[in-house]
Amino acid sequence: MYLMEKIIDRKYVIELFNTYQEYGGRTILNDISLRIRKGEFVAIVGPTGCGKSTMLRMVLGSEMPSRGIAAMEENLIKRPDRRRGIVFQKYSLFDFMNVRDNVMFGLELEQFNLAEHFLRKIFPFFYRKKVKKFREEADLFLEKVGLLEHAEKYPHQLSGGQRQRVAIAQAMIMKPQILLMDEPLGALDVGTREAMQIFIQELWGQTAQTILFITHDLEEAIFMGTRLIVLSQYYKDGGNNGSKIVQDIKIPWPQPRPTTIKHTKQFNDIMEGIRHAGLDPSHLHDIKEFNIQHEDALCSVRKFGE
Ligand SMILES: Nc1ncnc2c1ncn2[C@@H]1O[C@H](COP(=O)(O)OP(=O)(O)O)[C@@H](O)[C@H]1O
Ligand SMILES: [Mg+2]
Repeated sequence: MYLMEKIIDRKYVIELFNTYQEYGGRTILNDISLRIRKGEFVAIVGPTGCGKSTMLRMVLGSEMPSRGIAAMEENLIKRPDRRRGIVFQKYSLFDFMNVRDNVMFGLELEQFNLAEHFLRKIFPFFYRKKVKKFREEADLFLEKVGLLEHAEKYPHQLSGGQRQRVAIAQAMIMKPQILLMDEPLGALDVGTREAMQIFIQELWGQTAQTILFITHDLEEAIFMGTRLIVLSQYYKDGGNNGSKIVQDIKIPWPQPRPTTIKHTKQFNDIMEGIRHAGLDPSHLHDIKEFNIQHEDALCSVRKFGE
């Protein structure tokens, strides 16, 4: 408790301190510390299998770290709750519900207990007012993601990009304080993907929603966030010791960004720098110091304990 009081800071929405995740004796995440401020747009990039989804699950609360602290607003994260919304690469939507029902599903789930769900089917009249309110709310969010005219359609009638926009509306209707996105654009074709990158940036600009955006695509990660974190397997004494945050940097361009910046020299220099220092195993073998430039970055909680 002493430690908690000392390190937990009101300025931050999410805090990880010295977290490890181990599965069957294998270390996946090795001493991850991270603090996220309200309104930040944090992109996390790393190779497939390095533990990005594992890290997100700790933030979501669907699993707890084997060691260390994962906290939101000064409290340990123990289970998922509505303060953290999530969008996955796919499977966020129910195929048997239309778009509007998918978006309002979270509100209904929260509002009605099991008996009420049942009673609502038999006596829809009594619940009409409430359901009408949910519908209006859903339509508000569908309008935000530009899909109001598709409200009555079913997910299979939409394109991949549209489905992901429904998934975003579905998460945002719960008014989460942080939106977690796990490779949300990973299943989309290149053109749609780029359009969605811009769309998410615009949404962030309008809502000031705190976002934690995960991708394995370096170009996408640099393009999207105001801050970029590189998670990479860290090799020491010849073995894979699990992943660490090896880079934590500010991304200089204001949002939303034109896609043309992807072709500038500055963008390419950042990309090449990260490819070498953040992702190249031969470099990570004998790394002395991580590239942790961000003011909110933490190399080790030892600084706090001192
Ligand atoms: N519940 C689990 N039990 C055992 N191993 C797991 C579990 N979840 C993930 N892993 C392993 O942890 C590693 C990281 O997985 P993951 O977080 O999904 O990586 P990423 O999202 O970066 O691709 C992988 O090697 C994966 O096989
Ligand atoms: Mg993953």
